[in-house]
Amino acid sequence: MTIKGFIFDLDGVITDTAEYHYHAWKTLGKKMGIEIDREFNEKLKGISRMDSLDRILVHGGKTDSYTETEKEALAADKNGEYVKLIEDITPADLLPGIPELLGELKAAGIKLALASASKNGPVILERLGITADFDEIVDPSLLAKGKPDPEIFIKGAHQLGLESSECIGVEDAEAGIDAINGAEMFSVGVGDPESMKDANYRVANTSELSLVKIMAAVGN
Ligand code: BG6
Ligand code: MG
Repeated sequence: MTIKGFIFDLDGVITDTAEYHYHAWKTLGKKMGIEIDREFNEKLKGISRMDSLDRILVHGGKTDSYTETEKEALAADKNGEYVKLIEDITPADLLPGIPELLGELKAAGIKLALASASKNGPVILERLGITADFDEIVDPSLLAKGKPDPEIFIKGAHQLGLESSECIGVEDAEAGIDAINGAEMFSVGVGDPESMKDANYRVANTSELSLVKIMAAVGN
């Protein structure tokens, strides 16, 4: 099958906003008396805002401590912190290797979609100056289920007018790799080897991403 589309996660793949999500959750955790370390944070990557909060409350043994209204306020508080952290993003914040990969994909005529769980995704693409590089953006607010459910990647392929088997998904989250694999798409994993163990092709960081190497791994 010829590869005609790439479907990208955003946070931690295109730019280092995964780090900002971590800091914003850690700040909220402190206010709630819940310790959030990097190991637990791996379980939050790719997970929607409210689902992340639920996971944090389970982690801290505080599932019954807040009403739904209070939980909405906590999630809004975290987002307020996060929005401050992403204010100064510029094209210089594209992760190493990403401008080159986007160039290679464009030259090869491969279509691009964004499959990010983040409602802040479109504004981040704007600040990075790469909105026009993407043919489609999946709207996370219209999903029935978040990652690890494959829905977001299946929708990405549909929006591009392609079959899942014609697309490659790129992720840094364990939940994201599960979502790509569940969509029966070839998965490329970036980062933590343990979290990326189920990816079809793995790199330690974005500077190692190369279209030629990925295509060789797919067998194209
Ligand atoms: C994902 C991040 O891309 O988006 C998660 O990996 C984050 O950490 C999720 O919780 C939702 O983001 P937002 O910006 O809508 O709160
Ligand atoms: Mg991510």
